[in-house]
Amino acid sequence: MKILVVGAGYVGLVTAACLSSKDNQVICVDTDPSKIARLEKGIIPIYEPGLKEVVDASIASGNLKFSDSIKNGMTKLGSDSAEVNLIFIAVGTPQGEDGSADLRYVLAAAKEIGQSLNGPAIVINKSTVPVGTADLVKGEIAWQLFQRKCFIDFDVASNPEFLKEGAAIDDFFNPDRIVIGTESETTKAQLIKLYQPYVKQASQLLTVGVKEAELIKYASNAMLATRISFMNEIANVCDRFGINVEDVRAGMGSDSRIGPAFLRPGCGYGGSCFPKDVQALVRIAQSVGVDPIVLNGVESRNKKQKQYLFEQIVAKMGKDLDGRKICVWGLAFKPDTDDMREASSIDLIRALCHAGAAVTAHDPVAKEVAEHVFADLLRNGKLKIEDDALAAAKDADAVVLVTEWAAYKQIDFKKLKATVKAPVVFDGRNHLDPAALKALGFSYAGVGRA
Ligand code: UDX
Repeated sequence: MKILVVGAGYVGLVTAACLSSKDNQVICVDTDPSKIARLEKGIIPIYEPGLKEVVDASIASGNLKFSDSIKNGMTKLGSDSAEVNLIFIAVGTPQGEDGSADLRYVLAAAKEIGQSLNGPAIVINKSTVPVGTADLVKGEIAWQLFQRKCFIDFDVASNPEFLKEGAAIDDFFNPDRIVIGTESETTKAQLIKLYQPYVKQASQLLTVGVKEAELIKYASNAMLATRISFMNEIANVCDRFGINVEDVRAGMGSDSRIGPAFLRPGCGYGGSCFPKDVQALVRIAQSVGVDPIVLNGVESRNKKQKQYLFEQIVAKMGKDLDGRKICVWGLAFKPDTDDMREASSIDLIRALCHAGAAVTAHDPVAKEVAEHVFADLLRNGKLKIEDDALAAAKDADAVVLVTEWAAYKQIDFKKLKATVKAPVVFDGRNHLDPAALKALGFSYAGVGRA
């Protein structure tokens, strides 16, 4: 099939690369010409395991090309009135001032699509958008076509993504389900044909209405966030009773109605989706007069949970951390990514520096991103970022693990003991082995781990 993907960000690039790897002709468009120039040379702007290999192979096969505008991309793609082109909208929907999703990039893409459309097309929304957005996109394209006095057949469908950062390629090639939201039988048939090679069973292709698809995305992310916040609350209860949340989690998760996924307690969820999507769903509910009691609770618990590690540190070391050296392991919002959006490390490091501590941090891949996020703290010398985890721990009064990178399990903890000033570990993700650390003489505190 001939496909245009609007947006070469995280979702757009992964979508373009994975669709072009199965013999589709794909053009990926972005308004940033320097990004396009780099992509044409195979330089990937984000850290995502496996993405470069897929992009390189598709560029080599000639199935993946790039363009700096929708108009040029469409001309490159060509139109054949016998064939319907697929146009994916995969642009950002940042958080607006009131917490709702800002649709300016989606609507700008729709406008340009309407101005450039040169043949029959199905426009497919992959961006995370509020219920009713497909109608807005349809209206904008129709308005542009009307102004051009063009009569081109098009439809707008919804096809949300469920890609986890760090596992996006695997998620695309091995999805649990693919949600196709459309009211049109022709669109449904086209999208089923497109996605057939990506699923093992036809039942994984879930066809629903457009609005249902739009809500499935928000409801899924909010459900996952709810499980995490719920478990974080249970971990806090465990702390008070001195019982081990990991045993409680195992007991709960082995009930087939509950299942084990997304029940890991920790120092709060972050990333580009959960915090933003929960807030956007709050606004969606409010816009139709529903009081989002549960969703508000999910968000408040997460905000509080991001203070958990700081409160533990203060409880042990006192409020005044002047002259104390704290080592922070892990800056990305989760392992296998350099993304620091809404990362718990940001709240923690800012609170520690504010309380007078000198912070030395480490992350296996997020150093460069962190240098932007913490430019002020680096400038005034309150924070240092080291290339080596043990070097970051030198003379530390405590080591605090915020992101559960596999590499932190491989640390030589005997060496760590000899490096630090005080053998104190706060484990914000219950990632390390408390017994092994205690045997070496460390004081260990996890989240709800007795
Ligand atoms: C999420 C969704 O999983 C994905 O389907 C959607 O398309 C985009 O948003 P992502 O943000 O990449 O993906 O990360 P995910 O692996 O879901 O983790 C999100 C956050 O939850 C991280 O901060 C992680 O540390 C936290 N988390 C996850 C927990 O605290 N506990 C858990 O049990 C699982």
